[in-house]
Amino acid sequence: MKGLILSGGKGTRLRPLTYTSAKQLVPVANKPVLFYGIEAIAAAGIREIGIVVGDTQAEIRAAVGDGSRWGVKVVYIEQDAPRGLAHAVKISQPFIGADPFVMYLGDNLLSKGISQFVDEFARERPAAQILLTRVPDPQMFGVAELKDGQVVRLVEKPKEPIGDLALVGVYMFGPEIFESVNRIKPSFRNELEITDAIQDLIDRGLTVRPHIVEGWWKDTGKLEDMLEANRLILDLQERRIDGTVDAESRIEGKVVIEAGAVVERSVIRGPAIIGSGARIVHAYVGPFTSIGNDVEIQDSEIEHSIVLEGSCVRDLANRVIDSLIGKNVKIYRMPVKPSAYRFMLGDNSEVGIRW
Ligand code: G1P
Repeated sequence: MKGLILSGGKGTRLRPLTYTSAKQLVPVANKPVLFYGIEAIAAAGIREIGIVVGDTQAEIRAAVGDGSRWGVKVVYIEQDAPRGLAHAVKISQPFIGADPFVMYLGDNLLSKGISQFVDEFARERPAAQILLTRVPDPQMFGVAELKDGQVVRLVEKPKEPIGDLALVGVYMFGPEIFESVNRIKPSFRNELEITDAIQDLIDRGLTVRPHIVEGWWKDTGKLEDMLEANRLILDLQERRIDGTVDAESRIEGKVVIEAGAVVERSVIRGPAIIGSGARIVHAYVGPFTSIGNDVEIQDSEIEHSIVLEGSCVRDLANRVIDSLIGKNVKIYRMPVKPSAYRFMLGDNSEVGIRW
């Protein structure tokens, strides 16, 4: 069995971060989202992974390398433009050959991994197996209609409600899918939709097995989902203090402080993670916060946020919450009058202020 991870796309809903970084490399609990997918596939016993890449391929290649870190072999498959998930499958045929495979969308996170799902597929060997979960906003997803436990219909982003069982971004396929991806036509958003290709398998009389997800699933395409994924992952970690903490600081609950981090005169209340080289000085880091490598938090308070490497937050009068702060960002209080906001923000930045 092989693995196929889709790691292209523009990540428009995570701008401005995605102007300079692939959305799959935005970290959750200080680890790129994409790495969780690679780990889940490796844990399912799959050793060969193809990663479909687009404009951000240089970065993805630099971050993932040849996969040896995870004991897998990674090859890269270039997609010229985001033409849809079924298009990604189509161009991956030379890599997949006649093997069954799991397709994993690179910005998806699943709490229980995929091993059980992969085993079930290998045992039953349907033409496809899909993962489903109930969502409050099915119009945002591909949705499946079931009858007597069988998939009877699939619709991408349905305008008319057909139920609340959304397609999770992990799919299992046999080689039957290649004929279907070649038969379908582009959708309303001008993409070759995998949802339509799976519907085509059903139309051809082949079996598509549903599997309802146990545990949580997150598609980390936008800010709220990133923060939620960060919350869920941080909550799973064990306390580990490898950095330097002075006697005046208090570290409460599930906190990871990496080697090389320094905490002085501060309170860190978990679940939280502090990356190596970070400096937390006279500060409060509250629950559900990931502080990246070489970040400085000084005379400030921050909670329920993600701060990427090299940034600094200094001398703020109010607590920072619900925030996603990119790399090398500086937020500080100006010592001189007039009291005013002074910004230098990239395109599509977002600032929320309430005094
Ligand atoms: C894609 C699929 C959709 C699926 C979703 C899961 O949507 O087209 O069927 O439910 O991933 O993350 P997209 O992220 O392209 O809107």
